[in-house]
Amino acid sequence: MEAKNTFQIQVFLSCILLFGTLSTKSLEVGYYKCTNTCPQAEEIVRGVVYKYVLQEPGLGAGLIRMFFHDCFVRGCDASVLLDPSYLNPNPEKLAVPNNPSLRGFEVIDAAKSAVEQVCPGIVSCADIIAFAARDATYFLGMISYEIPSGRLDGRISIADEVLKVLPTPFHNLTVVKALFAAQGLSADDVVALSGAHSIGRSHCSSFTNRLYPTIDSTLDQGFGYLLRSKCPENAPVDGVVPQDFVTPTKLDNKYYQNVKGLKGLFFSDWSLLTSDETANLVNDFRTTPQFFEAKFAESMVKMGNIPLLSGTPGEIRKSCRAVNY
Ligand code: HEM
Repeated sequence: MEAKNTFQIQVFLSCILLFGTLSTKSLEVGYYKCTNTCPQAEEIVRGVVYKYVLQEPGLGAGLIRMFFHDCFVRGCDASVLLDPSYLNPNPEKLAVPNNPSLRGFEVIDAAKSAVEQVCPGIVSCADIIAFAARDATYFLGMISYEIPSGRLDGRISIADEVLKVLPTPFHNLTVVKALFAAQGLSADDVVALSGAHSIGRSHCSSFTNRLYPTIDSTLDQGFGYLLRSKCPENAPVDGVVPQDFVTPTKLDNKYYQNVKGLKGLFFSDWSLLTSDETANLVNDFRTTPQFFEAKFAESMVKMGNIPLLSGTPGEIRKSCRAVNY
């Protein structure tokens, strides 16, 4: 009884804090519960994400990457979800880093419609992406954290903006660090979040420049031959390989072992070894999984707080694929 009371007092206090800051539209943990607008929102999203990820773990990887691609472009405003339309024929979704590789859109659609059935017009698509990435992280890595919410959905989505702000697999550490710094993220965040490359897949085109005409010296030669066998030169279709050949559905610190052993797929993965600061962290994460897990969680929350680019107020979309009319 006493424990229950203590819990209620804790929720009450955190809600007071929430109401105190809402006027500035800052994000808060448990926003939909505290405002009593949709107390079940996070639970509903979790149920949908688990259903899909259980069937296809790769979708969980897709959702974590979607959160990254959403937050880096104009802040976490679900701009990545908008479909091409008559008024906006070229949204972010069609940009090279997203098309055709970004996946998990059907999970967001299903979560949104499940939430709309219970609390119509309340929960933003931007928050649904953030919840889904958090839930996928737990499902695939047993890494748990609380993610603040209360985001609004943006109305602007421009494909040409994507390549200006997102790092590519061909970038070196200096460029990757600068692109993260532009979002208020540190070199430590770069190293921690890159750990997401222990799950999911990559298309061959993101690394075949390291395989042909010769296997790059930044790549383990045996691993290079394995990749050649999966990604033949001038293949008619862009094949896919797992990011981590050993535990492709487990979000764990094996990525750092791979990077150290020159078995990361991307030049950008290898480049983490090119400064003492990042190489030391690669080593720390490699040897201490708990340290990686704590830092990964912290950096995901930080990424979710990237400020919005747009000064205009957002909206709660009816459909995550289109702005409201
Ligand atoms: C540091 C700079 C980064 C670069 C250059 C980069 C690049 C890439 C590329 C090229 C792919 C392959 C996509 C494909 O062909 O299907 C990929 C996959 C992936 N990335 Fe990154 N990424 C970076 C950082 C991140 C961050 C910060 C996260 C999230 C925390 C992330 C999560 C993922 C995940 C989970 C996948 C697998 C996606 C799937 O299986 O659908 N990446 N990344």
